[in-house]
Amino acid sequence: MKTFKFFLLLLIAFSTLSSKGQTVKRIFADAEKQTSFMLDQVPLAKAEWLKDTKNAKKPNVVSPRSLSPEGKLNLVASKDWTSGFFPGVLWLLYDFTGNKKWETQAREFTANIENEKMNAGTHDMGFKIYNSFGQGYRITNDPSYKEVIIQGAKTLSKRFNPIVGCIRSWDHSRDKWGFPVIIDNMLNLELLFAVTRMTGDSSFYKIAVSHANTTLKNHFRSDFSSYHVVDYDTITGKVEKKNTHQGFSHESSWARGQAWGLYGYTMCYRETKDPKYLLQAENIASFLLNHPNLPKDLVPYWDFDAPNIPNEPRDASAGAVICSALFELSTFSKNGIDYRKKANQILANLTNDYRSAIGANKGFLLLHSTGTKPTNIEVDVPIIYADYYYLEALIRSQKLRK
Ligand code: GLY
Repeated sequence: MKTFKFFLLLLIAFSTLSSKGQTVKRIFADAEKQTSFMLDQVPLAKAEWLKDTKNAKKPNVVSPRSLSPEGKLNLVASKDWTSGFFPGVLWLLYDFTGNKKWETQAREFTANIENEKMNAGTHDMGFKIYNSFGQGYRITNDPSYKEVIIQGAKTLSKRFNPIVGCIRSWDHSRDKWGFPVIIDNMLNLELLFAVTRMTGDSSFYKIAVSHANTTLKNHFRSDFSSYHVVDYDTITGKVEKKNTHQGFSHESSWARGQAWGLYGYTMCYRETKDPKYLLQAENIASFLLNHPNLPKDLVPYWDFDAPNIPNEPRDASAGAVICSALFELSTFSKNGIDYRKKANQILANLTNDYRSAIGANKGFLLLHSTGTKPTNIEVDVPIIYADYYYLEALIRSQKLRK
């Protein structure tokens, strides 16, 4: 039985991606060319942005985010939730290739967002600081990065409310929600776990566990799909509303939200070894992978309940997050062989059918992501976080082969 499992794993490892001659090394070589192209585009887009007098009083833009409907490169200021992903892409390129060019660029783009460590107006600290400074610290051990990460966790902790048991997500839409918590927020917990390891101060770990437990209790339906926004009463700690913001409806399953849940509980199991997080991740995976509206190529539509499936845009970013999460979950779960097979399929499909041609699309790697469909923002375009999780998934797949 053991020998059979071993050969099955070998088969899974060498199938799919290699079926079209796409080894991870070759894909990274393409990603290097494409990202070099993006680096040439950034100063051009910045100059264009500065020329527009409307932007004179706005904070400077620093990181690529997406393409406009006209095909222009959209850059964002450091306060945007996506500002850490491009530095992260550069770190992942350095991690895989060892090419110093990427370290130099990664350091430069990472430095641009350092002031975010003090920004207590958002929950997106992990997305910004951990995917940039966190990756940089993992790879280089630079002590100055550690200080930024620690400060980021201290700032994020200020948003924790002990009565609710969660970190507050948004400060906007106060007319709708008193204390909104979104499923995406699970990703920010990784920063808190890391800082307890770095400092020995368990308060960050405790906040992360409280947030994960409260979210597990209140964000999920009986089929393990999740709501996007849960609003809490801060006097009683009780749930006030279960809503959506980026999904099709309050009761629908917004694809990227499901992906954040899967990734979040897999990461929480890695950090705590609490079996209830592993079970939650397995249940989310089962919801996703067995869903009748999941397309054959396993790259979801933007919402599992979008009204016009199959004529709805996909969300390659959700596909990339699910793919990367499944690779990690495969190392913990009794269903590991199946998860790894599915992750390899997603990776092969993203690689073969969703990649941009080199020298096109301002240097983004993946096409066909959807940011916020209900307000028609970033629909069926390249978005930087898809590229980040795609590269992470490629690296995870390579590590598993070894
Ligand atoms: N965290 C925001 C989003 O996934 O669109």
